[in-house]
Amino acid sequence: MLRYPDPRLRKKGLSVTTVTDEHRTLVKNMIETMYEENGIGLAAPQVGESLRLLVIDTRPTDEDDKPTTEGLTELEKQVQQPIAIFNPEIVEQRDLTDYEEGCLSVPGFFETVERAQYVEVKGLDEHGKEIRIKTDGLLAICLQHEMDHLEGKLFIDRLSFLKSNKIKNKIKKTGYPDPEEVAEERAKVRELRAERAKTQSVAERAKTQPAAPKK
Ligand code: NI
Repeated sequence: MLRYPDPRLRKKGLSVTTVTDEHRTLVKNMIETMYEENGIGLAAPQVGESLRLLVIDTRPTDEDDKPTTEGLTELEKQVQQPIAIFNPEIVEQRDLTDYEEGCLSVPGFFETVERAQYVEVKGLDEHGKEIRIKTDGLLAICLQHEMDHLEGKLFIDRLSFLKSNKIKNKIKKTGYPDPEEVAEERAKVRELRAERAKTQSVAERAKTQPAAPKK
C-alpha cells in the first residue's frame, strides 16, 4: 500500500481501453487487499498501478464478518457489491453531504470532507461491459473519494489550507502513527459517525413529521 507523500499517488491514472485477464487478476488482488486492510474502497494507484480502476465494498458486516444491508439506503441496496469499475466518470451529481473520511494511503487521519450526495457513475466492468451506478449514501461518497485517487488527488487535499498543511507537515515530520493508534483513531471515528447518523436521522424525522396541529 502506497502512502502519502509517495509521488506515485500523485500521477493521473491511465484509461483502460481493453479489459484483459491481467486486469481481472489485478481486480481480484485489489479486492483481497481492500478486505485485508478493512477498507471500503481501493484505487489502482494506491497499489502502484497507474490505471483508472477502483474497487469498492461499503456494505457493513455482522458479528460473523458477513456483509449485511443494514443501514444502506434504498439506492445502495440495488447496487451489487463488491464493485470493480474501470474508467469511472461522473455523469450526474446533485446535493451535498459530508462525512468523516479516511484513506488507506493516509492511515490514522480522519477529517470531514464535503461531497455530492447523489452521483451517477458510468464505466466498464471487469468484462469490459458498460455499467452505470446510481447511488447516494456512503457508496456515493466512496466512489468520489476513489475517483479522486485516479486524478492523483487525496482527501487531505480537499480540506482547508490550514488543516491540510497541518496533517501533511505532521506526516512529513513524524511519520504515521503505529497500527495500534490507527486502530484507536478508527474506533473513535466509527463512534462519531454512528453518533452523527443518529442525530441526522432524528433531524430528518423531524423534517418529515407533520407539524403539530395549531390550537
Ligand atoms: Ni483513499
